[in-house]
Amino acid sequence: MGHSLLVLFSFSLFFSSSFAQTLTFSPSDEFYINSGSSESLKLDGGRVFISDSEASSYLSTKDDIQVSSPAVNAPSSLYSSARIFVEQSIYRFKVVDKGWHWIRLYFYPLENEQFALTDAVFSVTTDDIVLLHNFNIDNSTKWVMKEFLVNATTDHLSVIFNPLRNSVAFINGVEVVSAPKTLISDVVSGISPVGDFPGISQHTLQALYRINIGGPEISPENDTLGRTWLPDKSFLWVKQIAKSVKISPAAISYTETVSPLIAPNWVYASALELSPMIRHRFNLTWGFSVDPGFGYLVRLHFCDIISQALNSLYFNVYINGYPAVTGLDLSTLALDLAVPYYKDFMVNASIAMSRIIVQVGPMSPDPSGSDEPEPNALLNGLEIMKISNSFGSLDGEFSVHRGRSLVKAGSKNGTATAVGLFMAFAAFVGLGAMVFRWHKRPEDWRKHNSFSSWLLPLHSGGHSSIISSQRGGSRSGFSGNIYSSSIGMGRYFSFSELQEATKSFNQKSIIGVGGFGNVYLGELDDGTKVAVKRGNPQSEQGLNEFQTEIQMLSMLRHRHLVSLIGYCDEQSEMILVYEYMALGPLRDHLYGKTSKPLTWKQRLDICIGAARGLHYLHTGAAQGIIHRDVKTTNILLDENLIAKVSDFGLSKTAPGMERTHVSTAVKGSFGYLDPEYFRRQKLTDKSDVYSFGVVLCEVLCARPALDPALPREQVNLAEWAMQWQRKGLLEKIIDPSLAGKIAPDSLKKFAEAADKCLREYGVDRPSMGDVLWNLEYALQLQEASPSSMPVNEAILAGSSMQ
Ligand SMILES: *[C@@H]1O[C@H](CO)[C@@H](O)[C@H](O)[C@H]1NC(C)=O
Ligand SMILES: *[C@@H]1O[C@H](CO)[C@@H](O)[C@H](O)[C@H]1NC(C)=O
Ligand SMILES: *[C@@H]1O[C@H](CO)[C@@H](O)[C@H](O)[C@H]1NC(C)=O
Ligand SMILES: *[C@@H]1O[C@H](CO)[C@@H](O)[C@H](O)[C@H]1NC(C)=O
Ligand SMILES: *[C@@H]1O[C@H](CO)[C@@H](O)[C@H](O)[C@H]1NC(C)=O
Repeated sequence: MGHSLLVLFSFSLFFSSSFAQTLTFSPSDEFYINSGSSESLKLDGGRVFISDSEASSYLSTKDDIQVSSPAVNAPSSLYSSARIFVEQSIYRFKVVDKGWHWIRLYFYPLENEQFALTDAVFSVTTDDIVLLHNFNIDNSTKWVMKEFLVNATTDHLSVIFNPLRNSVAFINGVEVVSAPKTLISDVVSGISPVGDFPGISQHTLQALYRINIGGPEISPENDTLGRTWLPDKSFLWVKQIAKSVKISPAAISYTETVSPLIAPNWVYASALELSPMIRHRFNLTWGFSVDPGFGYLVRLHFCDIISQALNSLYFNVYINGYPAVTGLDLSTLALDLAVPYYKDFMVNASIAMSRIIVQVGPMSPDPSGSDEPEPNALLNGLEIMKISNSFGSLDGEFSVHRGRSLVKAGSKNGTATAVGLFMAFAAFVGLGAMVFRWHKRPEDWRKHNSFSSWLLPLHSGGHSSIISSQRGGSRSGFSGNIYSSSIGMGRYFSFSELQEATKSFNQKSIIGVGGFGNVYLGELDDGTKVAVKRGNPQSEQGLNEFQTEIQMLSMLRHRHLVSLIGYCDEQSEMILVYEYMALGPLRDHLYGKTSKPLTWKQRLDICIGAARGLHYLHTGAAQGIIHRDVKTTNILLDENLIAKVSDFGLSKTAPGMERTHVSTAVKGSFGYLDPEYFRRQKLTDKSDVYSFGVVLCEVLCARPALDPALPREQVNLAEWAMQWQRKGLLEKIIDPSLAGKIAPDSLKKFAEAADKCLREYGVDRPSMGDVLWNLEYALQLQEASPSSMPVNEAILAGSSMQ
């Protein structure tokens, strides 16, 4: 596609199948900048990236730092120079034709004498959308191109670079180009619930994956819209069942609805189908990891290049296990063989979680009638685009506009002065400075000082309580709609509001202490009590755990999980606000300073509640989260003794369908650690089951999981209790306050459950669901026992206690 061709085709967009192959698109707006270079650069395909001096009218910055050095082996010479910004800098482009525009940003941390660009942490935004937040490229990553699709609604489009305090931002190349209006339609199909999902054009998209299935990589010069399509090899799960098919790209006949603008003919001319012989038994499966907490637009490209005749190919399409299309019939949709067809699906955050799995497979698993066409399925191409969230962000939950809301909040109290955008950036800077420092910590620092240890209860005070039940998230006030996310993130608190709620973080409000911060009891204006977990601003904290906790909790809602009400990250603060749990950690009610011991039934109810919370994490709507730090201090009780699991700072999303574990550095608490996880560093949901087994022993025996003061064989509770259990004498070591009050059947069932949880190997342990079932059974046995019934009923029931 030569530059002259572009001019020739200017403003003409026509669709006709005979001319379609040569159809190109002429963008009305196009800006290509070879940042940091004194020379312009012409790339294959004709795009000319202009030099810094030619681009100076677009850029407003105080800095003038250009670096260049040959980027060895780089895919493009664009990466050989970079512009470095020490302060906020803005590229501003005039938009002639509103609507979709590509923003492509090229990054490579060039080695230079002035700045270590691999340490640079910065954010990139447009006027209203966060594109990259706390972005960093270390030198393991090399060249990075980030591609966004923005619907320009005004006559300007800005790309704003914000280095964090003490850091710099850099850019090697900027590309802002109009995209065809027909590229993305406003309405896509939802998969659960099934139906139309309108409003895509109100969002900004980020292209994450663009795959040419069964074919070669397609470079920008072979795509009319300058896109890159990668081969599917590294995403395909079971390669043995896939067979690749190819036809000549020239044989693809485009239509009015599907032009080469949607995808080049190379994409439709190759595909994977099911291998013969095993066709009716398998799905072809591709897996992609994605950021949790976001919705995704999944575009699937099909073209029947395998059938000999029409009406002989029908197959099913699944996304994350949900049926996306049942009985897809390309003959009816495309009307001919070798005619392209595509379909867009909306996969929302609660379905996407942290992976998107696309499957195509046969309609009926067992072909009965012999005149039926042999089952088969195919896929030619695939695109996954991240959709900006309700904060107007594609990276995290921080809005560009937050500053403006803060102004409102401040002026309410008569404190804030000026600010505008600057405030938002100040917040970015604050948070980022932490990432920056944190990045430099040695790896094992995180193991010892996890954010989650903030929730260690305070065992000295008379009043040990954390976190609880009334929700406080619904006040209107300044927090406004910007913060009430569709995924239930909770709200944003200003620092001054939390200061007020905790009486300026008064020592007397402290209800828990941890490695580097305190937990305070706070009271909001409407009287709601909250637990406020604050990182010590002087210390360097695990920003990662802070974000993990926000992300995990924002996806999770369950009666037996502690809810996050909101957070504050103003200045250098990292504060989480939770529901307040009036009765504090379970541990405090088992031993130590307990005043009134819990009854057996109360203990069973608490264990059942906690088991439900964990079961939900492992298998429920939230599917596939491993808590990793199950212990009696992380099971909290509200004023009605309802148990809730807390502290998700260490949680991990469980592995995909094919892999069975996550390899990871061992984290967790001694005394509760799964021995198998410890040995093999392989984490599964069965590691939580083990830790829960230890919790069951603690509940029964009322002593800590590890007690170094005891004789050697008694130090580790799990080992000691299981020795007695295997001798059949467990009742000898139970909490004396329970003696004679547990129905023997109930104790037996409970002990069996603990025993199974504590099996040496994960495979021998039950699922949380089975554990839950056993505990419920133990509760029934207790309730049915004579001691818990009125006397005459017990006699009628005819059961006897031994
Ligand atoms: C972009 O957004 C505007 C206003 O939200 C809308 O009217 C327009 O149709 C959108 N453009 C495209 C190409 O979808
Ligand atoms: C990354 O860069 C640092 C500092 O320049 C260097 O010490 C380190 O070896 C590099 N690592 C890799 C993987 O290149
Ligand atoms: C791209 O186009 C060039 C020149 O026409 C050709 O040599 C190359 O093979 C093409 N590559 C792909 C993947 O289409
Ligand atoms: C294909 O995958 C779907 C969803 O994961 C599943 O329900 C179906 O049974 C699978 N079909 C075959 C033949 O394996
Ligand atoms: C997102 O998924 C959840 C769970 O399946 C569903 O209840 C909700 O309606 C979905 N929302 C949209 C907009 O598709």
